[in-house]
Amino acid sequence: MPCPALPDGFDFTDPDVYQSRVPLPEFAQLRRTAPVWWNAQPHGIAGFGDDGYWVVTRHQDVKEVSTKPEIFSASLNTSIIRFNAAMTRDQIDVQKLIMLNMDPPEHTRVRQIVQRGFTPRSIRALEDALRHRAEQIVAEARRKGSGDFVTDVACELPLQAIAELIGIPQDDRARIFDWSNKMVAYDDPELAITEEVGLNAATELISYAMNLAAVRKECPAKDIVSQLVAAEDEGNLGSDEFGFFVLLLAVAGNETTRNAITHGMHAFLTHPDQWELYKRERPGTAAEEIVRWATPVVSFQRTATQDTELGGAEINKGQRVGIFYSSANNDPEVFDHPEVFDITRDPNPHLGFGGGGPHFCLGKSLAVLEINLIFGAIADAMPGISLAGDPRRLRSAWLNGVKELQVHYG
Ligand code: HEM
Repeated sequence: MPCPALPDGFDFTDPDVYQSRVPLPEFAQLRRTAPVWWNAQPHGIAGFGDDGYWVVTRHQDVKEVSTKPEIFSASLNTSIIRFNAAMTRDQIDVQKLIMLNMDPPEHTRVRQIVQRGFTPRSIRALEDALRHRAEQIVAEARRKGSGDFVTDVACELPLQAIAELIGIPQDDRARIFDWSNKMVAYDDPELAITEEVGLNAATELISYAMNLAAVRKECPAKDIVSQLVAAEDEGNLGSDEFGFFVLLLAVAGNETTRNAITHGMHAFLTHPDQWELYKRERPGTAAEEIVRWATPVVSFQRTATQDTELGGAEINKGQRVGIFYSSANNDPEVFDHPEVFDITRDPNPHLGFGGGGPHFCLGKSLAVLEINLIFGAIADAMPGISLAGDPRRLRSAWLNGVKELQVHYG
C-alpha cells in the first residue's frame, strides 16, 4: 500500500532513524494512513527480507501477528541477534536453537521446561538477594556524588538477577557480564564492538554454559541449572539447549531491563510530578508504565507461512512482517494520551513484553521485580537525584537504548 506520507527510501531498520526520537512520528502517520505498510528495500537489510518487509504499527495488528504462530512463524529468525548477508548458513542454522526462533510444537516443549525456572516461587526466592544488591548498587553510586547512571546503576542489577537465577558462581560473573555486553552493542561504532567480537563472545558464553550444565548434571546443586538439565530426556534440556538458553537470557534479559531502568529514571527526572508521586505512594502500576514508556524492544519480526490478510493488507507467503511494539504502545485507539508518562495508568495493556503469544516474555515478573527494587532503593537513598546532561542514545534499530545518562546522585 503506498504511503505518500513517508519519504522514498525511508527505512525502519536503519539505526540512524532512531537516533533522536522513539517513538517515531512516522509510526503515527502509518497507523492513520497505512497501518500494515510494505517498506520496499530492494538491496536487502539486516534482519529483514531481500525485497522489503511489512511494517505493522497498530496495537490490534501487533497482537494478531504475535498470537498466530501458525501463520506468522518465528522460526526464520526474529532478529534478536543480527541476521544479515554477512552471516554464514551455519550461523543462521545455529540461531534456530534459540527458543525465540522456534515455533510450536518444538517451542512448546522447550518453553514448558524452562518455565520451571521462572515460577512465581522461584522469582520470589530471589527477592531478598536482589533487594540487597539494588541497595548496594545505589549506595555505591551515591558515594560517587555524580556520574553515568547507566554504568553506575542500570547495568548491574539485570546481570546480577540472571546470574542469581541461573546460579552462576560469583567468580565467573565478571566474564559473563563482559560477554553479554559485547553481544548486544554491535551496531554502535562508538562502542567499537565488531560483529566478530560479538559472535566470539556468544560462542564463549555458550560453551561456558554447556560446561556448567555438564558439571551440574554430574554433581547437582540447588539451582536452576541442575533442575533443567537433571537427566537428558524429553522433559529436560540437553547441555547444548541449555547453552543457547543462557545465551538468550543474557541478551533478552540484560539490555532490555537496563534500558527500561534508564528510560524510567530519565522519565522521572523530566516529569518531577511523577517522581514526587512515586516517592510518596510507590504505586504498583509504575513498572508497567515505565516499560510502556521505554519500550526497550522496538520490534521483532515474523515470516508469513501462507498468503494472508492483515489490517487490510494482502501478505504473501514467505514475506517478512515487522511488529513494532514502540508504535503499538503509543496507539491512541488503546491508550488515552499515550504521550503522557502516567505511573498510575490502569489498565495498561502495553505490548512492551510482547503481544501475548507463545513467545510472550518469559522474564516479565523478574523484570518488574527488578524495576520495583531499583526505583524503591533510589527513592529511599537518593530522593534528590537530578539530571546532569541529556541521554546519549545507543545506535540500534531494534533496541531503544541509552548508553549514557549523566546525573547528580542526590
Ligand atoms: C521474550 C521484552 C526482560 C527473557 C521477550 C519478547 C519481548 C521481551 C518483546 C518477545 C515477545 C514475543 O515475541 O512475543 C522484554 C523487556 C524486558 C524483558 C522489555 C525488560 C523490561 C526479560 C528478562 C528475561 C527475559 C529479565 C530473563 C531473565 C525472555 C525470554 C524470551 C523473552 C527467554 C523468549 C520467550 C520465548 O521465546 O518463549 N522479551 N523482556 N526478558 N524474554 Fe523478555
